[in-house]
Amino acid sequence: MSEAVADPKEKTDVASEDNSTTRDPKTPKPQDPANENKVLVKIENLKMHFPVYKGALFRKEVNRVKAVDGLTFDIYEGETLGLVGESGCGKSTTGRAVIQLYEPTDGAVVFEGCDLTKLPPKELHRLRRDLQMIFQDPYASLNPRMTVGDIIAEPMKVHKLASGKDIQREVQELMDIVGLDPRFVRRYPHEFSGGQRQRIGIARALASKPKFIVADEPISALDVSIQAQIMNLMDELQDEFGLTYLFIAHDLAAVRHISDRIAVMYLGNMAELCDGEELYENPLHPYTEALISAVPIPDPEVEETRERIVLQGDVPSPLNPPSGCVFHTRCPYAFDRCKKEKPVFQEAEDGHFVACHLIDEPERRENVDPTKSSPLSSGGE
Ligand SMILES: Nc1ncnc2c1ncn2[C@@H]1O[C@H](COP(=O)(O)OP(=O)(O)OP(=O)(O)O)[C@@H](O)[C@H]1O
Ligand code: SF4
Ligand SMILES: [Mg+2]
Repeated sequence: MSEAVADPKEKTDVASEDNSTTRDPKTPKPQDPANENKVLVKIENLKMHFPVYKGALFRKEVNRVKAVDGLTFDIYEGETLGLVGESGCGKSTTGRAVIQLYEPTDGAVVFEGCDLTKLPPKELHRLRRDLQMIFQDPYASLNPRMTVGDIIAEPMKVHKLASGKDIQREVQELMDIVGLDPRFVRRYPHEFSGGQRQRIGIARALASKPKFIVADEPISALDVSIQAQIMNLMDELQDEFGLTYLFIAHDLAAVRHISDRIAVMYLGNMAELCDGEELYENPLHPYTEALISAVPIPDPEVEETRERIVLQGDVPSPLNPPSGCVFHTRCPYAFDRCKKEKPVFQEAEDGHFVACHLIDEPERRENVDPTKSSPLSSGGE
């Protein structure tokens, strides 16, 4: 990062000016879903399976990676929906399939009344300006041969939103908005630090004036000291432009303060979805319960005495997911039905969705200590 441009607005990547949390989660935003509840994106039974082929000459499909295997959930206008889960559970695939960077294997993605999966290419192209993505790796996601100005201008040209001098003016405005000095418009990505590059990625995502942004672990490749700056920026932009975010992260702590609601995924399936505070206070899915038990508590006394739920075994392969509930090979509460029957993702309490047979059979929780119990014997289908 030694060659990074010294941008007075960025301060430095190493010496962050603001490490505060991004928002008091109790402070309602202007577009708080609790106030409006308008669905912007409706995802129905979304599946993304990647075929696995064998043979060089006569290529034959021998299996499928079930990266996303039937997700149903809504994203409200103006909200930040956090999406969490272990590595490989299908978060990025979900994000890409929702904004049609992948063509889903099955299911519907209804955006403002249009099922994106059924749109002809021309129509989809027109709607794409409303759906943008911020990528995890600000190094790999920017074309090293393009100047910052050209990178940010590209979506405006592709969608014919401006031309000539207007583009130049809008690029400079966007650079200013995301905290980059517009004088550096002719520089190349390698001349910027990690945090500055992520600001370029954000400006590019904003250039087409989108309504919905998938942010795929946008801060995890950045220095800890600048993560809060980027989070704050995203938060401010959301308020200013009325954006809706699907914010992907691999752990709960990373999304707690920025999410209105949180969705938890496991092995291509949705485990639980509800208000962020509710998830922490009242986790209904055993997987969420285990994730929360692993989140560090700032009070050292409580931290020392509490017991964690340590999940046994590894996450099974999405090539051969377990039968019934995909979590049954690791779930401390698993019982016979879990092996045979896939639980439906349903609204168990007001606005609180979960996929678990314990909702119908709550007495099964009694007499099980999840910190000590072992799951049913493992094995795929
Ligand atoms: N293009 C692809 N072809 C085949 N398999 C894929 C492809 N993309 C992803 N997968 C597989 O699909 C599963 C889900 O991958 P995905 O990248 O969505 O997970 P993730 O939750 O984003 O993980 P991470 O936290 O590591 O980013 C993984 O098993 C992955 O190997
Ligand atoms: S359905 Fe069964 S295995 Fe799945 S999470 Fe619930 S109790 Fe555990
Ligand atoms: Mg990912």
